[in-house]
Amino acid sequence: MSAASSHSRSFHSAEVVDPASYTPGFSYRGSQLYCEGVSVAAAAKKFGTPAYLYSRASIEQAYRRMDSAFGALPHTICYAVKANSNLGILRVFAALGSGFDIVSGGELYRLRRIGVPGNRIVFSGVGKSREEIREALRTRILLFNVESPAELDLLVSEASRLRVRAAASIRVNPDVKAGGHRHISTGHHSHKFGIDWDTARGLYLQYKDSRWIDWQGVSAHIGSQILSLAPHRRALARLAGFVRELRAKGITLRYLDCGGGLGIRYTSEQPPEKAAWAAELARVAQPLGCHLLVEPGRSLIGPAGVLLMRVLYTKQNRGKKFVIADAAMNDFMRPALYDATHPITRAKRSAGALARADIVGPVCESGDCFVQDWPLGEVAPEDVLVLWGAGAYGFVEASNYNSRPRPAEILVDGNKARVIRRRESRADLIRGE
Ligand SMILES: Cc1ncc(COP(=O)(O)O)c(C=O)c1O
Repeated sequence: MSAASSHSRSFHSAEVVDPASYTPGFSYRGSQLYCEGVSVAAAAKKFGTPAYLYSRASIEQAYRRMDSAFGALPHTICYAVKANSNLGILRVFAALGSGFDIVSGGELYRLRRIGVPGNRIVFSGVGKSREEIREALRTRILLFNVESPAELDLLVSEASRLRVRAAASIRVNPDVKAGGHRHISTGHHSHKFGIDWDTARGLYLQYKDSRWIDWQGVSAHIGSQILSLAPHRRALARLAGFVRELRAKGITLRYLDCGGGLGIRYTSEQPPEKAAWAAELARVAQPLGCHLLVEPGRSLIGPAGVLLMRVLYTKQNRGKKFVIADAAMNDFMRPALYDATHPITRAKRSAGALARADIVGPVCESGDCFVQDWPLGEVAPEDVLVLWGAGAYGFVEASNYNSRPRPAEILVDGNKARVIRRRESRADLIRGE
């Protein structure tokens, strides 16, 4: 089954494994689900619903596993801020020694607010504005991943104005098909990302001795939720050939930035282990003598978060059962946006056959359905439900659609749970109007 499985697909009960069995940081004590040392039902009661709940231990485990998988190879993990940009989460990564991949001035602002130095930051994105480029130059970031000739012109003009040399790489478009859904595939020639090989070669040579551009690397990011190593292998082989070709022409690149994209298990997917992915990258980077940069988002933070919601009502329409929850598509977009299937379970499990239902939210759209015909079991109003794998591309994609305040975010660390973003108020809804 593809990663972006349609949420209209019906899952056999036997196929549905409780995500607590494969999600670090979450386990049962008796019938109650715990996030580390905190009862999930108690957290829902204390902080209200809907709420995102993250396990710090899960993030740390994921980061350390990936970091140690690269061993002695010179490398920097640049956590992709877009996946989850809460300051509390960014602080966890900063404390682990992580670098960061940003795609906007807003993300740069967040990192500066928590004191991340410029030399831990790489800047990707097809539409960097003049202001964003200027801010990043002033911050002396590690690397600009340039995505068009016009952007390079702008970078040169801003660097010369500020009298600084910009450390840069070209994000190439390797023309490789990958990614779990068409909205998250980025490395094919039909996509807007990166620069084709010939144009990239021309730009490296044109700016070889530039006073304002310091070619430090080459980068590629081919997509997200990639469930096999093959597309990475194809892109890496082309990148390695390109690095060698440039070296023969007198341009020696220090950094090989391989982007992110490693997939995770939401339901029944079988993504490569971090160690296997790292070994694949190392196999290419090592002989080149390059310092490896990676930009993982989902694989570090995705499994660490859940979305807590409460049952408002249940109803039957012509024999079809609906569970109406207090969370909706505005709180968590992935099912509506990418047809993604996220398991939903009860915070208090009980034995017995798992009755099926469509689990939906209050928003006035038929697309406001988290999952269809899902073996949830019997539920009643006020029961707490847990939507799994919500740590990445969850809160960051939330909106105020239907004038719904966005949820709170809670970080669990051992026996403690603290609010890292308060629930929005009614006043927040109209701020600025
Ligand atoms: C340039 C870039 N780097 C890294 C990432 C992170 O990808 P993922 O969360 O799949 O690891 C993305 C996300 O699409 C991206 O666009």
